[in-house]
Amino acid sequence: GNRTFTMLKPDAVEKGHIGAILQQITSSGFRIVALKLTQMTEDDAKTFYEIHKERPFYGELVEYMTRGPIVAAVLEKENAVEDFRSLIGATNPEDAAEGTIRKKFAASISENAIHGSDSDENAEIEAAFHFSGREQF
Ligand code: GTP
Ligand code: MG
Repeated sequence: GNRTFTMLKPDAVEKGHIGAILQQITSSGFRIVALKLTQMTEDDAKTFYEIHKERPFYGELVEYMTRGPIVAAVLEKENAVEDFRSLIGATNPEDAAEGTIRKKFAASISENAIHGSDSDENAEIEAAFHFSGREQF
């Protein structure tokens, strides 16, 4: 099957939602092939979100993503990238469908609980950013 990359963002970890979110992910048919609690440095976050560097919220985004630990994971499922984006819901939780992870666990567009890769190519880049080959099963 193919793979996607996710992060449970600092707000989700702070609120104690790690278990509930991982439960929803695995019960939706995703296999966890890599998993860790980690914290991004400022350099990490700037690099990871470099595509957004001209956006007005870039500084706020980097501050948010570095303020506490995250859970990074690589997930495997047929059609992983697209199916995972459906599972997490729209960027703004107000627009997210009922039952999606962001609808249930995100507070706002800026603190939206979870990341999902937007392409197979980015999934590969993002997984390699956080995990060595030996850490991916
Ligand atoms: P990711 O899975 O985290 O990449 O989210 P996404 O693909 O649904 O959204 P996008 O890549 O466009 O934006 C990346 C992240 O920047 C979002 O998940 C939010 O955390 C943050 N973000 C996006 N739009 C805004 C905004 O208008 N204001 C603020 N403060 N943050 C935003
Ligand atoms: Mg994105």
